[in-house]
Amino acid sequence: MRTKVLDETRIEEAGAVLRAGGLLGIPTETVYGLGADGLNPEAVAHIFQAKGRPQDNPLILHIPSADWLERYCEEIPPEAYALAERFWPGPLTLILKRKVLVPDAVTAGLDTVGMRCPAHPVTRAIIAAAGVPVAAPSGNTSGRPSPTNVADMLEDMDGKVDAIVDGGPCSVGVESTILDLTLTPPRLLRPGGVTLEQLEAVVGSVAVDKAVRQLLRGDEQPRAPGMKYRHYAPKAPVTVVKGDGAAAARYIRRHLADGDGVICFNEFVPLFEGHPVEPMGPEADQAEQARRVFDALRYFDGTPVSHIWAMCPEESGLGLAVANRLNKAAGFHIVQAGK
Ligand code: TXA
Ligand code: MG
Repeated sequence: MRTKVLDETRIEEAGAVLRAGGLLGIPTETVYGLGADGLNPEAVAHIFQAKGRPQDNPLILHIPSADWLERYCEEIPPEAYALAERFWPGPLTLILKRKVLVPDAVTAGLDTVGMRCPAHPVTRAIIAAAGVPVAAPSGNTSGRPSPTNVADMLEDMDGKVDAIVDGGPCSVGVESTILDLTLTPPRLLRPGGVTLEQLEAVVGSVAVDKAVRQLLRGDEQPRAPGMKYRHYAPKAPVTVVKGDGAAAARYIRRHLADGDGVICFNEFVPLFEGHPVEPMGPEADQAEQARRVFDALRYFDGTPVSHIWAMCPEESGLGLAVANRLNKAAGFHIVQAGK
């Protein structure tokens, strides 16, 4: 199949791809998604094929506005409306009880469904034009870092999807926050563009699923099936070095071998001359780190590095999401730099 790249004025054409049961790359504020008609099980099956995604990993349904929630969900608690009011359109996915019309192909047989109203106006317009909810995982091959621009999505999906809509680079850069509202208290399943602190300001106490911060044992099941898979990983192994930038830089310089690569805060780039280095943004700018993290991880697949050392922000604010992606890319291989 030839994959077309559509500019963002081609809303009708993009909507028609979805209605015809095709696969469409969609820009969102978080990462690019690989969309299909979420009510068409055959189209949804093609998403799994194109990504090489495990069958037990459910998909998020994307809707153009909160008033579509009742079409697909039941027993919606008041917190859902309060959160939608505050954060939608935006990088928050709510896990709610699903109605039976949502296909098993989307939910992997669960009785819940992830609902998200993305902030990118082009994608909301496309979904509205298609008139169907859009099932969409991130647009990467399963296991690879998520794509945050059209070139990265083409790298993984050229020839596998009907079209990709170029909506420019993603403004958030890490995926949506996933909050399970079917549990009491609500539970954070994946940190993302909306922070834990922001959620707590609206719904009070939020539990954090164990899989967010640590590697689960083989016999433990995360609440979000996708959190159990090795993810975001470049081909070379990654070691995350915790601690403030100066301490982490010292640690990395002591352990760095010929042929190793480094992901570091911008301030420390000159310390690693002679090595492939990807700057992740200034140490104090977590929003920039979120925008850069997947690109930085992807970059090394085009280089012959044998090992990657990565600095890591503190686990507060957006730093929780950035650290989670780095930790997962490292298979939770984490060391602590001394003071
Ligand atoms: O920002 C995002 O959320 C992006 C853009 C494209 O919207 N999408 C995305 O989808 O990250 P994906 O499929 O790459 O990640 C979805 C995660 C997976 O870990 C999956 O297991 C979890 O959400 N998930 C989906 N439905 C769920 C459900 N009903 N219960 C628990 N976890 C669920
Ligand atoms: Mg993904």
